[in-house]
Amino acid sequence: MSNANLRAHLITFGCQMNEYDTHLVQSELASLGAEFVDTIQDANFVLVNTCAVRGKPVEKVKSLLGKLRKEKERRPLLVGMMGCVAQLEEGQEIAKKFDVDILLGPGAITQIAKALESHDKFWDLTFRDEVNTYVPPPPKGTLSAFVSIIRGCNHHCTYCIVPKTRGPEVSRHPDLILEEIERLKAAGVLEVTLLGQNVNSYGKDQPGYPSFAELLRMVGQIGIPRIKFTTSHPVNFTDDIIQAIAETPQVCRYIHLPVQSGSNRVLRRMGREYRREWYLDRVRAIKEALPDVVLSTDIIVGFPGETEADFEETLTLYDEVGYDHAYMFIYSPRPGTPSARHFQDLPREVKVARLQRLIEKQKEWSYRKNKRWEGRVVEVLVRGTAKEDGYAEGHDRGNHPVLVPAAQAPEPGLYQVEIKQATPHLLYGEVVGSTAPTTIPLTVM
Ligand code: 5AD
Ligand code: SF4
Repeated sequence: MSNANLRAHLITFGCQMNEYDTHLVQSELASLGAEFVDTIQDANFVLVNTCAVRGKPVEKVKSLLGKLRKEKERRPLLVGMMGCVAQLEEGQEIAKKFDVDILLGPGAITQIAKALESHDKFWDLTFRDEVNTYVPPPPKGTLSAFVSIIRGCNHHCTYCIVPKTRGPEVSRHPDLILEEIERLKAAGVLEVTLLGQNVNSYGKDQPGYPSFAELLRMVGQIGIPRIKFTTSHPVNFTDDIIQAIAETPQVCRYIHLPVQSGSNRVLRRMGREYRREWYLDRVRAIKEALPDVVLSTDIIVGFPGETEADFEETLTLYDEVGYDHAYMFIYSPRPGTPSARHFQDLPREVKVARLQRLIEKQKEWSYRKNKRWEGRVVEVLVRGTAKEDGYAEGHDRGNHPVLVPAAQAPEPGLYQVEIKQATPHLLYGEVVGSTAPTTIPLTVM
């Protein structure tokens, strides 16, 4: 197929790194002259970016590919699969079964142009340097963007498929990161989220690179008003990082720190290298240095062998930390991971009942935490109109969704908003004073 006639439709499952990778491929396709269409029906090329972290997203990919195979029987259609599922044996079997034409592992996505030139099926699962040296152009029509700083993961959590799909940690050269952020700033982007499976390890794999703490300070100097980062690992969340956040006003006081479980017995079986006491000490240090910090976490319920007493330790840890938000998952055995090979999965009813109890806890805490913003003025990055009639939506520096009357925020941008009412899920506010974008003084190093 000639690239000039390419009508591409891109579908993304999974995490923010996948969203970033889709954008990377999309910009490559744009440079090849592709047009982007909103539906499968209008497309002659459908590319699916896949997630393997739990069983559910893999099932979704399979049913989508089934649909695409049927479509292929009716008309010429090129189907591509990229991302974490593509890297797995399971994914390659899926690709064969559903007649996928292009298969690109997470380290091979820069090969998209070559793949399209190929007259045959094109599979590439190697990890290529280009994936870290490519600097995608700023995404259009958004004030908030992602920047990859490190790929892969060196931890060995027994439940996790990611080390298999994304390989060991490889940090990106700091000059490229800074160049990408400079370009985003020039394009008017107001918020950058630094991405990696474990951003705290940044630089450790490459001699001469700055540490994550040093990188945060360097990125702060660029002067984008909001810097966020995800995901962190408690073991690598060292004091120098906390200090860098405290001393760099552009870095938002929002930290996502996955705990996974509150029980030491479970943490050990999960292969998490810290214990409850270590985690709570990190939280203590964070709260001490960053008053008003917003904390979120990931928790897996129903890990094999988790007893009622273990689960209750997760509930008490939740109370000790008092998270603003949590992403909660039912344990899903992933083929080939140590926990799936060696441990017996718990009955589904047990896992579901625990998840429900945890969700109750999360709602209570989120409501309580959200309430503390009532009457205070926060900075909101308004994206556009909300689903709720008459409102514009955005989020504050702590990642809370915030709704304001649409008439008060006619343009996307930064607004000072007084919070009038909190719910467990979001904050309602009114724009106060000037609606001019907030500027934050640069730190002097
Ligand atoms: N089952 C359930 N949840 C998982 N996660 C990772 N692997 C699994 C699994 N096998 C969760 C973890 C991780 C988040 C991205 O997904 O909580 O932090
Ligand atoms: Fe899913 Fe993890 Fe891959 Fe992201 S890195 S797409 S969460 S498996």
